[in-house]
Amino acid sequence: MIELHTVRPYFEDKPEVLSEILDRYPEYGRRSAVMPLLWEVQRHERYVSEARIVEIAEILGITATEVRGVMSFYSTYHGEPVGTYHLQVCSTLSCKLAGSDEMCDHLEETLGLVPGETDHEGLFSLQKVECLGACTTAPVLQVNDTYYERVGRSELDELLAALRRGEMPTPKRAREGDNAQFGAAPLAGERAEAGTAADAALADAEANEDTQRKGGTA
Ligand code: FES
Repeated sequence: MIELHTVRPYFEDKPEVLSEILDRYPEYGRRSAVMPLLWEVQRHERYVSEARIVEIAEILGITATEVRGVMSFYSTYHGEPVGTYHLQVCSTLSCKLAGSDEMCDHLEETLGLVPGETDHEGLFSLQKVECLGACTTAPVLQVNDTYYERVGRSELDELLAALRRGEMPTPKRAREGDNAQFGAAPLAGERAEAGTAADAALADAEANEDTQRKGGTA
């Protein structure tokens, strides 16, 4: 018996998902939905295949080349499957000056990969990317959608060990001053640094917010 390997359109059985995305844009600007459509596919299939590119192009009434053009501009999108953990090392100036080359060298050595490769188990992919927009807290490593900032050698080893255990550590808080409010809890091993100026500043800011909430003065 002949087996047919046809690709079922991704959005065929997801009309609500498709409508929700398309309805975000006015009729004349439908082509702007290309990014969320690519993201929707990639989130579920880990990459965007050629068949999905053509499908998205047909949905939006644009060419497959235009869809590929968007994909190739953003390192977020992958045309090949990536590992469970996609390690993206920022290689733009601020991160380079702060040691991202050394970070990448260490990852290459530890994982036995060069940028652009995925290991045999499909666990890690390594990639060098352009500025991740967190230059003040360089060097930055992005793992899937999560940023790890001011990553040193020991944090890197700690992070890899956690990922191998199937754990995704909370990002280390590395921001200072006003930006501290956007940070998150540190990696477990970083709690020892709780006495740093940044932590003290954050604690003060939180205490002030608390006082204001309760109706007092800061
Ligand atoms: S240079 Fe690395 S985040 Fe901007």
